[in-house]
Amino acid sequence: MKIVRTVEELTALRKENSFNGKRLGFVPTMGALHEGHASLVRRSVAENDCTIVSVFVNPRQFNDPNDYKNYPITTDADIALLESVGCNVLYLPSADDIYNGYEGCTMDFHGLDKMYEGEFRPGHFQGVVDIVYRLFDLVKPDFAYFGEKDFQQVAIIKLMVKQKNLPLTIVPCPIVREENGLARSSRNRLLTAEQLKVAPLIYKTITETCATIPESETIENLIETLRQKIDSIEFMKMEYAAFCNAETLERLEKFDRKIATRLCIAVWCGNIRLIDNISCTIK
Ligand code: PAJ
Repeated sequence: MKIVRTVEELTALRKENSFNGKRLGFVPTMGALHEGHASLVRRSVAENDCTIVSVFVNPRQFNDPNDYKNYPITTDADIALLESVGCNVLYLPSADDIYNGYEGCTMDFHGLDKMYEGEFRPGHFQGVVDIVYRLFDLVKPDFAYFGEKDFQQVAIIKLMVKQKNLPLTIVPCPIVREENGLARSSRNRLLTAEQLKVAPLIYKTITETCATIPESETIENLIETLRQKIDSIEFMKMEYAAFCNAETLERLEKFDRKIATRLCIAVWCGNIRLIDNISCTIK
């Protein structure tokens, strides 16, 4: 696996003949890699001639300075994992280099940057779009792999690709979970042993409450029930839960069995913020 650190090195590599006519897959990450990331890289390796992974803790997308400060960095382990799954190139940019002379990416979010995650993390999606647009421009992939763990992020990146007419395809990939149901996340390693014991209850609660929903059920009721259940678990406080149209991400006012529905939730477990989402069956 080649490791490149500067825009100059990456651009030079990208111009090498060895890339000509090759199908190029790209997986952007913030490191502290786990099985969720690995599943994206494996898929890219299986579907492309060459796979580039970036590891960069992007300061622009952290609305909370403590979250940025505490974000885990495990570069040596990341390199070992990427080697083991067949990644060809690792891009490890520095903030000064990658943002040098680059203002950012302006797009129309269709209000999505202010909803769900965006409501509680102001500026977060602008920061995500800024870095992803820049990375796409430098890497120039044919396919880019994103996890449905960040369901809203996938929708916003797809919107950006469409608005900017970028010649690449976004490939959404399913959420990888621990055996106990907890969605894999770099932030899980910041949980205490006691918090780790209860964290799987987020998935258990949302699946139990929302796996099959009668069409007659009201959304307010179900969200209230979820809030009560989650808030009664030690260390936990629900920040929001929303039922949305899985395609458009529009907030649903009532359940409709004809509309593919996704429940998105954010929960504070102590001072660590966890997110999850599931598809809901409306009967
Ligand atoms: P990060 O949180 O490191 O995630 C990188 C990619 O891995 C994202 O597409 C994310 O959805 C996916 N991922 C994380 N956990 C997963 C899981 N349990 N199952 C499946 N996929 C999972 O998302 C980001 O970084 C950043 O916002 C980024 C896009 C890199 C821009 O900075």
